[in-house]
Parts: sequence; C-alpha cells; structure tokens
Amino acid sequence: MKILIINGPNLNLLGQREPEIYGHQSFENYLKELKNKFAGHTIDYYQTNHEGAIIDQLQFANQHYDAVILNPAAYTHTSIAIADCIKAIDTPVIEVHISDLSKREAYRQLSFVSAVAQHTIMGQGLKGYELAVAYLLN
Ligand code: DQA
Repeated sequence: MKILIINGPNLNLLGQREPEIYGHQSFENYLKELKNKFAGHTIDYYQTNHEGAIIDQLQFANQHYDAVILNPAAYTHTSIAIADCIKAIDTPVIEVHISDLSKREAYRQLSFVSAVAQHTIMGQGLKGYELAVAYLLN
C-alpha cells in the first residue's frame, strides 16, 4: 500500500514543542521506526505550516496514493477548506492527533475533519500513526 502522511503546522517541532503533551521524539526519528515496521509498504511524509499546501497535497494524494494519514494540527479546529477537500477526493483519509482532544481546551473539541475522515485516532502519542497504518492495512 502507498500511504502519504501529512502533518500540519508546528508538527515540525515535535520533540521540542510542549514535550509534556507531544513527547520527546522528533517525527523524523519516529518515521524511521514506522517505515521499518511496515517495510513492504510505501510511507511518504510531508509537513507544512500552510493550510493551502495541505489541500494541494491532499489533491495530489488523490492521484498518487492509496490512503492519507492526516494530522491537520490547529487547522483541525478551523479549516472548512481542508474538510471540503477531504470530501472532494476519493482517497481515504485517516485523522490522527497525538494528544487526546477531548481532554484539552474547549476550542480543541471541535474537529471539522472528524466529520469527513474515514476514521480518527487520538490520544495515543506518536503510536497513533502506527495504529492508523494498521487500520488501513486491515
Ligand atoms: C494536535 C492537536 C491540535 O489541537 C494542535 O493544534 C496540534 C496537534 C495533536 O496532534 O494532538 O498542533 O493535532
């Protein structure tokens, strides 16, 4: 299976950013483990701090990937444009959040993406990405 992971704003700072919430590991470091675990499948990674770039990648993935694992970060709670894009494409999108949004600030309780994603995984730390790949492979 060919999977694209898309991480949104500030997720390039994993490992340094609020480690008590997001952990101490960088995504690049975790990605090596993930690729080893699922050798035989293609797992590509794209990170951006820009909303439109997420949409461009989702549209690109619709032509070139079997599935997307998306952590839209703060755009989760604001972006109707990303939700519209997920609705518009055929490629399944699994939403992942490192933290458990249900236990955080009120403004994080709303996800425009959950309504249109095929499945949502949250609160499992970086392991959530591994669970998303396993979900797609089943
Ligand atoms: C996040 C949760 C969002 O509310 C936050 O803005 C992020 C990361 C998570 O993975 O837990 O940047 O998507």
